[in-house]
Amino acid sequence: MPSATIDHAQDAIVGGHPDSRPRLAKPLTYAGTLDSFQQFDVTPVIGREFSGLHLRDLLKGSDEQMRDLALTISQRGVVFLRGQGDATPMEMKDFMLRLTEASGCPASSDLHVHPLTEEGSELGDQVSVISSAKQKKGGGLTHQLSDVSRFASTGWHSDITFEKVPSDYAMLKIHTLPPTGGDTLWASGYEIYDRLSPPMKAFLETLTATHDASFFHDEAERLGNPLRKDKRGSPLNQGGDLRAVHPLIRTNPVTGWKSVYVNKGFTKRINDVTKDESDVLLAYLFNLVTQNHDAQVRFKWSAGDLAIWDNRSTFHCATYDYSADRAGDRVCSLGEAPYLDLNSKSRREALGL
Ligand code: SIN
Repeated sequence: MPSATIDHAQDAIVGGHPDSRPRLAKPLTYAGTLDSFQQFDVTPVIGREFSGLHLRDLLKGSDEQMRDLALTISQRGVVFLRGQGDATPMEMKDFMLRLTEASGCPASSDLHVHPLTEEGSELGDQVSVISSAKQKKGGGLTHQLSDVSRFASTGWHSDITFEKVPSDYAMLKIHTLPPTGGDTLWASGYEIYDRLSPPMKAFLETLTATHDASFFHDEAERLGNPLRKDKRGSPLNQGGDLRAVHPLIRTNPVTGWKSVYVNKGFTKRINDVTKDESDVLLAYLFNLVTQNHDAQVRFKWSAGDLAIWDNRSTFHCATYDYSADRAGDRVCSLGEAPYLDLNSKSRREALGL
């Protein structure tokens, strides 16, 4: 995608791809179907925890309820459902398909197949096994990064932004836990956007950035598994080029809110500025994510808990402060090719904060 070109067919839309547009004509509105469940906001900015809401019941529930849940996840960034120990990987996949569908994903988007997923893997191509044992052997982004850095914050990322069509939602269930430690943190990309000055917002809205996971080629070779070059959940995600250019500020179609969309894990370069300028800007944006604990939420897992987050508008980071086993399953769905709607609002603007 060339930098900041405007698609005149869609007026104020910058970026995106004609084969991967959201099916929503406007942001979702909440119908109240989750009001009867106990819930609380974990911080003012990000995170909501529900009690008594079960994946299996949600799967049997109405499309309206699924839409309400999608909107809640997209507005709050991440939702926590405790005590889902009986949810199977198959149910997690079915659920994620319904969630992404209810939230208006493009018809061409499916569940993601990670480029490092082994062909014929135990739980199927669309389930990533998160395992500390595997990480110790060097499999996985966060471990690789934490190996070369003494900053726990090195691992902040959003999932698979190196794909032309990256993730809308992701679900993680942790079933095996150390006695303590292994928390996960999320940060709000909406809030990071809202902390920028108006001139900086306007400048960043003209830019794109390159997201690059070419290091997975070395990883695949080292692990002895061929990199997955077949369709990874979208016809636009195929082949060995693990790089994508996305708008630096993107609009989440479900909320209609703007979010900063660069992350420490995969974003290597802001385009059309000098390398020095790119480095300074990226360092500043990454610092906004990692150094503002009031834009973050930290979740302490119990075995069987489940988190669902919106990768378009959040970042997350695992904590490697334990030695006993920690393991779980993750499913990622694909949304739209990222775009910026110049007429969309910031979260604070939309909520009148
Ligand atoms: C992830 O980065 O998706 C996994 C986070 C975790 O293991 O806590």
